[in-house]
Amino acid sequence: MRDAEPHPVRLADYRPPAWLVDTVHLDISLHPTATRVISRLALRRNPKGDATAPVLLDGDGLTLVRLAVDGTPLAGGAYEASPQALILRHPPSDRFTLEVETLVDPTANTQLMGLYRSRDNYCTQCEPEGFRRITYFPDRSDVLAVYTVRVEASRAEAPVLLSNGNLERSGPIPDTDRHYAIWHDPWPKPSYLFALVGGNLSKVPDHFVTASGRPVDLGIYVEPGKEARATYAMDALKRSMRWDEKVFGREYDLDVFNIVAVSDFNMGAMENKGLNIFNDKYVLASPETATDTDYAGIESVIAHEYFHNWSGNRVTCRDWFQLCLKEGLTVFRDQEFSSDERSRPVKRISDVRTLKAAQFTEDAGPLSHPVRPESYHEINNFYTATVYEKGAEVVRMLKTLLGDEDFRAGMDLYYARHDGDAATIEDFLAAFAEASGRDLSQFALWYSQAGTPRVSAQGQFDPAARTYRLDIRQETPPTPAQPEKKPVVLPLAIGLIGPDGQDLPLTLDDGRNLPRHVIEVTQAEQSFVFTGIDARPVLSLNRGFSAPINLSTNLADADLVFLAAHDRDPFNRFDALQGLAFRILKAGAASGTLPDAAPLIEAARLLLADSTLDPAFKAQALAIPGENEIAREIGSNVDPDAVFTARRALKRQLATALGTELEEAYAALAAPPPYSPGAAAAGRRALRNLALDYLTSGGAPEAIARAKAQFMAADNMTDRFAALAVLVQHDTPERAEALDDFYRRFVTDPLVIDKWLSLQAQIPEAGTLERVKDLTLLPVFSMANPNRVRALIGAFATANPTQFHRPDGAGHDFLVDVVLGLDAKNPQVAARMLSAFKTFRQLEPLRRASAERALRRVAATPGLSADVTDIATRSLS
Ligand code: PHE
Ligand code: ZN
Repeated sequence: MRDAEPHPVRLADYRPPAWLVDTVHLDISLHPTATRVISRLALRRNPKGDATAPVLLDGDGLTLVRLAVDGTPLAGGAYEASPQALILRHPPSDRFTLEVETLVDPTANTQLMGLYRSRDNYCTQCEPEGFRRITYFPDRSDVLAVYTVRVEASRAEAPVLLSNGNLERSGPIPDTDRHYAIWHDPWPKPSYLFALVGGNLSKVPDHFVTASGRPVDLGIYVEPGKEARATYAMDALKRSMRWDEKVFGREYDLDVFNIVAVSDFNMGAMENKGLNIFNDKYVLASPETATDTDYAGIESVIAHEYFHNWSGNRVTCRDWFQLCLKEGLTVFRDQEFSSDERSRPVKRISDVRTLKAAQFTEDAGPLSHPVRPESYHEINNFYTATVYEKGAEVVRMLKTLLGDEDFRAGMDLYYARHDGDAATIEDFLAAFAEASGRDLSQFALWYSQAGTPRVSAQGQFDPAARTYRLDIRQETPPTPAQPEKKPVVLPLAIGLIGPDGQDLPLTLDDGRNLPRHVIEVTQAEQSFVFTGIDARPVLSLNRGFSAPINLSTNLADADLVFLAAHDRDPFNRFDALQGLAFRILKAGAASGTLPDAAPLIEAARLLLADSTLDPAFKAQALAIPGENEIAREIGSNVDPDAVFTARRALKRQLATALGTELEEAYAALAAPPPYSPGAAAAGRRALRNLALDYLTSGGAPEAIARAKAQFMAADNMTDRFAALAVLVQHDTPERAEALDDFYRRFVTDPLVIDKWLSLQAQIPEAGTLERVKDLTLLPVFSMANPNRVRALIGAFATANPTQFHRPDGAGHDFLVDVVLGLDAKNPQVAARMLSAFKTFRQLEPLRRASAERALRRVAATPGLSADVTDIATRSLS
């Protein structure tokens, strides 16, 4: 474990590498506890670097065996070696070959960084700083080299041997029980994209021919017996490859593309060149074991990692401050892919929900940071919703501002100019500025300034002048280390809707035109006057959530009802309903009694009855905001119990008022078998299961019985899981029976057991903490597996606000105990769990004090990892 670094790494301190590596030859002999790594590096002094600097290679926990320079073994005094670094103060010349032999123990590697074992397979994870746990190397993303890798292992233990690039040779090693494979990757790459896999895996093969005719062998490697569960992932991969050719003009560039699914993985998946390694959660699916949400997740993660081949691999990041250069852009690309493959409005709504739930909350608390941070103590803590999701929003705004054509021209220029490079955000923006002829200097603030802008829009209709005047103010609240903020560029898509429900033509009084119906706000206060308006219009602003802001308007409830019924922008139809719900829920949580919900009920009834609407859209629009979303809207002095009570009361009111319509929807939407994961069928299931949830919310015995019947009869996981999720909300015998049945059916299927763990962790009842503690003792649970920890502990800490924030502090104490126990084994996952406290400052004083005590207990513990220290320190600051 590394100790917390006293000094942060700063963007301003960036220096080009003093030494470059042209080629890397690795010879890796796999062994469970003593894997031998021989690395031959062709080193060359960087003409653009410090001409006197020694050779400094990073290491992390390495055991050095042997060192040679240009073939001659080095004597002890000629170098300095520690587990953390290897230094040659007197290199023989400006160009030489260094051979380093090290030993690593993959079985002891519980951090899941570097070379480790998952089940009995060997695999690697090198982003961001894992390669240094395999061999000494200048482990930074601006050192690009061509890799040739020879890997050998026992044939029985690891019949499959994979690395990046194309397979050159393989075969048995005579007179031994071992065999080898040699892989060569012709594309220079940074060390974080290195990967190696060895194990007993089954290949699901397929084939793809690129637009220009290159044949590509595709393989998805899974545990033997799971082959059938990889077919959807393979289909998603081929669709992703075609889509990137069509939409971004990007073709695949090797003869082989492999994906390996592993059971122990810290994140979702990793884009290693030609050899993506995946958390098996994002590969394996069958109708009986995966929900519609799981299928959609697989599609988007498969696409995301594949798209990195260009946005991340061919053009990589100069340093880790530029992480959003690959992640924000690639999230944007995978969102666009899913929009094209499914429903664009529904995808946008669900992406914005994720953005608000994860990123807006992050930005409103002590862990707030810019899309491109300026310093860090532990880079692993910056794989955040801000870098990923807000990073994607910034790219989306660029597209909105520039229009489709200039955006594509900017992308093409960026790729043409930086192919094979390690680039920066400045490089990225320069390509768009040049392609469009626009000045993007103010726009660049989106990368450096943290916080969610608060925007208020006040509209005024003047019947005498026949004008509509829109006054806009923006202000970004202070965030850690950034007390003063500047106004940012806000592309706000706008419509003015006439009494007949149609959009009015938009003409500005000063002759400015409105390309694509978007107003561009650049100042703290700005007004727009629309002319030729004959009757009071209703404002529809920030359509499609064109800017990631907190918007408040002077729209009346009646206006929101009107928008919910008439806005031709589906996102704002959704948002109008949510806005009505938020108004009721906030008032209800504050006073203890719900105000009149009639306008919301009316709007919901109209929407439910509209047969022209996609069921998936209705399901999104009719879902009441979650407890965390409500807490975020309230913003301060939040009492989770009051939020829960208000939400449950509103749900029951809606269920009662719309009972007939919901019954009809439930009856009408039953899908005939067989199950298909496509968007249309999934949308019907989503709406039907939402109806089930409403109809069961009062806990009536017949309703419970129906949910139980759906649970038992379901022929697919979506319907079974939805019924179980409904049942666990009610303390009945049916709940216990269903949980038991589910466990017995799926006890041998860890990914499904995760669903079972997760649902129980979210029960909003006083007994849940004890239940969660008991569940940690079951053999199906393991603190060593990140998926299990996230499913149980993560769900409890992030998706059960009343129980995690119990007023007696027992929920907080439990999380701290887990984090402290986990830290020695897997600091990354421990730090992620601890970041559940990121919203603690919005709580009411009693719970806030309890959370603060819990964080102080962490901070006061000696010997913590850099990861956990960093989160605890920043959370308390
Ligand atoms: N780069 C991975 C992605 O596609 C995420 C990741 C980061 C995975 C660090 C593992 C470790 O988003
Ligand atoms: Zn990514």
